Amino acid sequence: MQARTLTAFALLAAAAIGVFMAFWLNPFRDSAEPEPSASPRDDDPFAAARRRMVEWQLADRDISDARVLEVMGRVARHRFVPEELWKQAYEDYPLPIGLDQTISQPYIVALMTQLARPTADCKALEVGIGSGYQSAVLAELCKQVYGIEILQPLANEAEKRMAELGYKNVVVRCGDGYQGWPEHAPFDVILVTAAPDHVPQPLIDQLAPGGRLVIPVGRHFQALLLIEKQPDGSIDRTTVAPVQFVPMTGEAEQKRK
Ligand SMILES: C[S@@+](CC[C@H](N)C(=O)[O-])C[C@H]1O[C@@H](n2cnc3c(N)ncnc32)[C@H](O)[C@@H]1O
Repeated sequence: MQARTLTAFALLAAAAIGVFMAFWLNPFRDSAEPEPSASPRDDDPFAAARRRMVEWQLADRDISDARVLEVMGRVARHRFVPEELWKQAYEDYPLPIGLDQTISQPYIVALMTQLARPTADCKALEVGIGSGYQSAVLAELCKQVYGIEILQPLANEAEKRMAELGYKNVVVRCGDGYQGWPEHAPFDVILVTAAPDHVPQPLIDQLAPGGRLVIPVGRHFQALLLIEKQPDGSIDRTTVAPVQFVPMTGEAEQKRK
């Protein structure tokens, strides 16, 4: 009886070791979907700068959404600016990305993201994708992101960068974002990162009920607006803060009042 118990115990132990070895030696053990490479690694030389950015520029101001803070601490902003500017990538100001355009200040990216309240199942549109940084932040928080950029070289670069960094849920197209992207509407979240002097009606029309549009509006003096479409279709408008964005070109320019 005792010998049988011992044999059963030995068999059980051998099976457990077998399962453990099979797991450990499994060549597919690490083949799960890769993390986007915009996420920091342990040897990321900018990890400390990014942590300081999150603490001093975001959390110490009014960014309180834990998911936004976590993502801003994870997405490698330096990968979205020219290499000679990497050391400045986590400073508290916008940076040039070519063709007289800029990547927004980290705080503004965080503020717009927080105002938009993205959820894991939401569909987002960014008008003015520029470097792709804002869309990368959205892509970490949304199911699908669509980005429009009016300048062809920037659109090409953003598309290439998103692919290199592993963002499979971002689609980029070159075009004028004034008319939105009707084929993919309605959107739960729309962020506009170039300033028209009025809110384009097509963007309001393409907001889903309950959706949020965050947009800078104005010419010499701009204000960041939060526009929310209620479930009954009515619109709430809140002025959030004075801001300074590049002007929206294309149709917005022609319709300037
Ligand atoms: C402040 S930059 C955007 C920064 C971007 N969000 C980022 O994270 O790098 C504004 C961008 O909007 C683009 N833009 C201006 N007018 C536009 C329009 N009508 N449609 C689409 N993009 C537009 C500009 O070319 C520029 O790249």
